[in-house]
Amino acid sequence: METEAELFWEKRYRAHRKWGERVNPLLAEAVEPLRPGTALDLGCGAGGDTIWLAQQGWQVTGVDIATTAVAKTLERARELGVGDRVVTEQHDLAWTFPAGEFDLVSAQYFHTPFALARSQVLRTAANALRPGGLLLIVDHGSAAPWSWNQDPDTHYPTPSEVSAELDLDSDRWRIVRSDKVQRTATGPSGETATVTDHVLQIVRTTGR
Ligand SMILES: C[S@@+](CC[C@H](N)C(=O)[O-])C[C@H]1O[C@@H](n2cnc3c(N)ncnc32)[C@H](O)[C@@H]1O
Repeated sequence: METEAELFWEKRYRAHRKWGERVNPLLAEAVEPLRPGTALDLGCGAGGDTIWLAQQGWQVTGVDIATTAVAKTLERARELGVGDRVVTEQHDLAWTFPAGEFDLVSAQYFHTPFALARSQVLRTAANALRPGGLLLIVDHGSAAPWSWNQDPDTHYPTPSEVSAELDLDSDRWRIVRSDKVQRTATGPSGETATVTDHVLQIVRTTGR
């Protein structure tokens, strides 16, 4: 049975057929210098990042709560000739997490209006990294005019607040970037706006 959260996201991906098909620039910037390995894309949406990573030679697992999103990601990956480098899995990450170890775990705008122990999910993600692997978290620091969240009282946790909540052991993980950036975002109908992003990059330095 579909939960309220699944229905909410499912409806959005059925309606916005083109939503999230482009790679996020902050992901591209962080990943370009890395040697391709295995990657996990948490909340992969319509697959813009998953497919871009596969095109760079990464073996990618794209995960989302919305069945339409993961189906669309895999379909586009096949159309673009990188289907052999992409696996998709439907998970409500509040309850289940994909198996395996990864060189990169990416959480791009992994936000939801529903209850989700996000820190717990991101801590599990940090534990799923191989030594030397990178956890890349990019969060909204402001709302675009087309965002589902137009609540003026929203607090956007800063990268320091997110890392404090993660509370990772500094003997095994190192924060390599924690800052805010502004960028021009493009909405579903091609409109643009300046938005703030919160960027947190954490490297796993040693194994268990
Ligand atoms: C704001 S969108 C970002 C999508 C994509 N990463 C991007 O940058 O375009 C958040 C994504 O997280 C997914 N999501 C929300 N809650 C989830 C959950 N509990 N488990 C897995 N995915 C979830 C949504 O379906 C949606 O695709």
